[in-house]
Amino acid sequence: MNRRVVYTRGGLPADVLTVIEEPEPAAPERGQVLIRTVAFTVHPGDLQAIEAYPGKAAQPVPAGLEATGVVEAIGPGAAVAPGVEVGGRVTVFPQPGAWSQWIVADAEAVVAVPDELPDEVAAQMLANPLTALMLRREAQHHVAFGYDGLLVQTAAGSSVGRLVTGVCQSHNLALVNVVRSDRGASDLRRRFSDVPVVSTAHPGWADEVRKAAGGRPVSVAFDPIGGNLAEGLLDLLTPGGKLVSYGLIAEEPISVHASTLLNKSLTLRGKNVGRWLSEASAERRASDVATAKQIALGLKDQFDVAATYGLGELADAVEHAVRPGKVGLVLVRP
Ligand SMILES: NC(=O)c1ccc[n+]([C@@H]2O[C@H](COP(=O)([O-])OP(=O)(O)OC[C@H]3O[C@@H](n4cnc5c(N)ncnc54)[C@H](OP(=O)(O)O)[C@@H]3O)[C@@H](O)[C@H]2O)c1
Repeated sequence: MNRRVVYTRGGLPADVLTVIEEPEPAAPERGQVLIRTVAFTVHPGDLQAIEAYPGKAAQPVPAGLEATGVVEAIGPGAAVAPGVEVGGRVTVFPQPGAWSQWIVADAEAVVAVPDELPDEVAAQMLANPLTALMLRREAQHHVAFGYDGLLVQTAAGSSVGRLVTGVCQSHNLALVNVVRSDRGASDLRRRFSDVPVVSTAHPGWADEVRKAAGGRPVSVAFDPIGGNLAEGLLDLLTPGGKLVSYGLIAEEPISVHASTLLNKSLTLRGKNVGRWLSEASAERRASDVATAKQIALGLKDQFDVAATYGLGELADAVEHAVRPGKVGLVLVRP
């Protein structure tokens, strides 16, 4: 039997997710790869999608988009990426239904895992590194980024935020990190001693960011929170600045008067890695995957795992995945 995580309506993941049993998949069909899953990641974004699912589904919706495992069989005519072979370790993303003991994946979503990466890193090898790459690319559209312009990012201690920091460090891109607690700030300082960190727990945090900028223009801000915090970032941006919104953690909307945008010629941009597969050319995807692997290899120590659970502990896993103060992602070993 195959055990698979599904939901049939939107709502709190701990309430609506269930594990069903179904027959093991048969041999992969044309263009497909059959994978025995070893671990999958519970991304906060997966849970947001489940929560926001509108109404009731006619059929159970398979959950999850990223997982790592071992190739059991390759279907006829499957154009697999280099290194994908029977018995080899792979990661899939974006593959709907990745939270399952067996995955029948489209060949284009299957990527070989370098031997140097343990399963814990392999399970997070694509979604978050590709997000960090997508954000960097978006920042680079700003003329000052990479020159005198400075980047500010909120939720900087997040799994994505640590990769953004590592990428900025390797490419000598000026960054000020923003977190919401002194504990988070000291954890980040320990990891990246030469990147300034400011905590919004202090009322004067925006001035602390300006001070850390040392006179450089605050050109770009990355923000997965939204709401009041994003408004604070709009205040911080210097004329011509750009806010890149990539998450929706805050419940309140981002409220901005048109004069704020007009007077400083600001740009607001939303970015979503879910659109990467459909929007990028095959060549760009292959090159991005190669970069994602480089990020995983170079920043192995930043792929923390907060905890590992079994499929039978799914409710605990989804609760842990959004627990304040946790560092790293929650894994499930099915
Ligand atoms: N657009 C995309 O394509 C894309 C792709 C990947 C991720 N994301 C989004 O990026 C965010 C981070 O993902 P992740 O996987 O890196 O998450 P993660 O490792 O679970 O980290 C979550 C972070 O958010 C912080 N946080 C939570 N609520 C907050 C609040 N109200 N105010 C300030 N900080 C808060 C936490 O801080 P504490 O440590 O203080 O609790 C933690 O640092 C998520 O919202 C996710 O949906 C978007």
